[in-house]
Amino acid sequence: MYTQKIINIFKNSKNAGGLHGANGVAKATDNSCGDIIKLYLKINDEGIIEDAKFKTFGCTASIASSSVVCDMIKGLSVDEAKDITTTDILDELGSLPAEKIHCAGLAEEVLHLAIEDYYKRLEKEKMDL
Ligand code: FES
Repeated sequence: MYTQKIINIFKNSKNAGGLHGANGVAKATDNSCGDIIKLYLKINDEGIIEDAKFKTFGCTASIASSSVVCDMIKGLSVDEAKDITTTDILDELGSLPAEKIHCAGLAEEVLHLAIEDYYKRLEKEKMDL
């Protein structure tokens, strides 16, 4: 069902866990299956994503998608990361069974929510000055 590549990513999820000092955090839930991804971004003053971690309660595909997203965005600017789509995530994973494609969609959703959270925090910081 899953390729060896997906199984390896799943088994070696080096990006799993929380992230101290994260300044972009979001949680997304797929209501059809109940899988949950929480994503933590650490973004520096230049708007570059220095680190990314995830906590996922879900299937192999959602865990692999979460981990791959973290790898894809590290070193990118927030603006570049914003452009990442489900298709990009699927390309990075290699292939997913058709019924698991929504797992990559959930990873895209949580990425965009975490970036939104980062922008909201920035806005609030400016207001507090
Ligand atoms: S089965 Fe729904 S996100 Fe994986």
